[in-house]
Amino acid sequence: MTTILQINSAARSQGANSTLLANELTAKLQQSNPGAQVVVRNLQAEPLPHLDDTILGAFFTPAEQRTPEQSAIAARSEALINELQAADIVVIAAPLYNFGVSSQLKTYFDFIARAGITFKYGANGAEGLVTGKKVHVVSARGGKYVGTPGDSQTPYLKTFLGFLGMTDVNFIYAEGLNMGPEVANAALAGAREAIAAA
Ligand SMILES: Cc1cc2nc3c(=O)[nH]c(=O)nc-3n(C[C@H](O)[C@H](O)[C@H](O)COP(=O)(O)O)c2cc1C
Repeated sequence: MTTILQINSAARSQGANSTLLANELTAKLQQSNPGAQVVVRNLQAEPLPHLDDTILGAFFTPAEQRTPEQSAIAARSEALINELQAADIVVIAAPLYNFGVSSQLKTYFDFIARAGITFKYGANGAEGLVTGKKVHVVSARGGKYVGTPGDSQTPYLKTFLGFLGMTDVNFIYAEGLNMGPEVANAALAGAREAIAAA
């Protein structure tokens, strides 16, 4: 059975364009994969903490030497990794905030990037261990940047996801959402065309 993991990372709990469009994409993917199981990871409702001494200490302490508190922190990270590894299709709802991803998505990335678990270094450099997935990124943006040096989000996401082994990434953009209703409506219509084709 196909499993679709939808990761919502907007700071807004209601009305976030990235979440709304990702919901539509997931519904479409469910249609094209009958019986697919959907898992939603809502990073706004269940926020992850920023990395700090305690969290990094837990990650870098060998499992058998961890304190109970460190074990609980590592288990939280590993539960997220297991959830990701169980998915065949990953839908990432990614708002553009201050030219990057939301801090919600960044902390999620900090929790799933684990040496020896989701990537490893060998003689040939880094090897991603999260493979065989189709990833869709739904990026909602106030302005328009695709294909310009201002689009710092797309290369970042490609690099990070690729580092972990997720190289089959489809980007769906809704750009210009803060540029007036005409531009915003055209952006949503364009994103919906891309969703229909996904
Ligand atoms: C904190 C914050 C930062 C933003 N930074 C940018 C930005 O750097 N560039 C841009 O084009 N739009 C920016 N916007 C506009 C958002 O990209 C736009 O509102 C988009 O719809 C956000 O996705 P969401 O609706 O899923 O939250 C920002 C919005 C917020 C709330």
